[in-house]
Amino acid sequence: MLIYQDYNLQSVNTLALPSIAKKMVCFDHQDQLGPLQRMMSAAPRRWVLGGGSNMVLADYVDALIIKMQNKGIRVVAETTTEVVVEAQAGENWHQFVQYCLNRGWFGLENLALIPGTVGAAPVQNIGAYGVELDQLVEQVQVWDVELAEWRRFSVTDCAFSYRDSFFKRNQVGRYLITAVQFRLKKLSAWQPVLRYPDLQNHPDLQGEVTAQAIFDAVVQVRQRKLPDPDVLANAGSFFKNPIVSVAHYQKLVAQYPELVAYPHGEQHYKLAAGWMIERAGWKGKQIGPVGMHKNQALVLVNYGGATAHDVAELVQKVRADIKALFEVELEQEPIPVC
Ligand code: EPU
Repeated sequence: MLIYQDYNLQSVNTLALPSIAKKMVCFDHQDQLGPLQRMMSAAPRRWVLGGGSNMVLADYVDALIIKMQNKGIRVVAETTTEVVVEAQAGENWHQFVQYCLNRGWFGLENLALIPGTVGAAPVQNIGAYGVELDQLVEQVQVWDVELAEWRRFSVTDCAFSYRDSFFKRNQVGRYLITAVQFRLKKLSAWQPVLRYPDLQNHPDLQGEVTAQAIFDAVVQVRQRKLPDPDVLANAGSFFKNPIVSVAHYQKLVAQYPELVAYPHGEQHYKLAAGWMIERAGWKGKQIGPVGMHKNQALVLVNYGGATAHDVAELVQKVRADIKALFEVELEQEPIPVC
């Protein structure tokens, strides 16, 4: 098991922030759980790291970082219409989606090209193009560091909601997600999800569609709109789309008839934060080494050399403008790690 002291996390977070971790350990295999548990229980603070694609790191992280690198995919159960497949936490998310598609296990195709790992996916309940992870999860395998025992979280236990879960809200560092099981469909039981406007209007998705065609379209749309973190450092959407009351929505739409919003249950609307940030004049705007992306104003990018301080300054300015214009508090999506 590889152990590092004062490790610079810059190359393992997609926002490329320089950050020194007091200690980092790489978890590759379940056999390492004994020694790892001893280290974890002795560490006053712990953070679990997957692909580093949804976090904002402080300059110094006074904690033990556990980097999940365990690999493996296996079928747990199978019928003529469904398959329950388990992937280890360290599997790359996009490669796992591709693996399932190639074997004729469908449902994950709308979630193609999301950066990060399988183990991190339930934490923020990843979602895109009309599908959220919680619709496909069967259960999550967790090592409880405090009780030193295995636990299996059902979908209900995970308390999923929009970009949120039990794991994001409760004692970060206590629950080590080691594997996730998904219930996927075989062709005879599969239904395409095409309600998202980008897919509904896509020229390759008219008439009868395949899961492969959806996968290809999602990859194409994402590549067009979202910066590749390997080319331009970013952590995906930097803010959640805010959820407001019907009354608030009605007030806003009277003022801004072109406002982009979607009904969210009966009593709420979800507002497109990207649209609001663009309307506030931040799209493509830069302050020092950071800015809001020119194609997708919801994505904060690091043009090179940014620190946590630069990010915080930009975030504060964007949030203040959105508050002033729309009376909405933008909530940060990536997890702050300090
Ligand atoms: N829009 C603008 N200007 C912008 C950006 C967006 O006017 O600069 C408008 C778009 O034209 C569209 C609406 O806002 O009418 C929504 O934009 P988009 O379809 O790009 O999606 P989003 O709401 O900005 C969310 C997720 C993304 C996910 C896409 C597709 C959140 C916080 N973000 O973005 O997830 O890929 O929908 O489903 O919910 C992520 O979480 O990191 C992420 C990329």
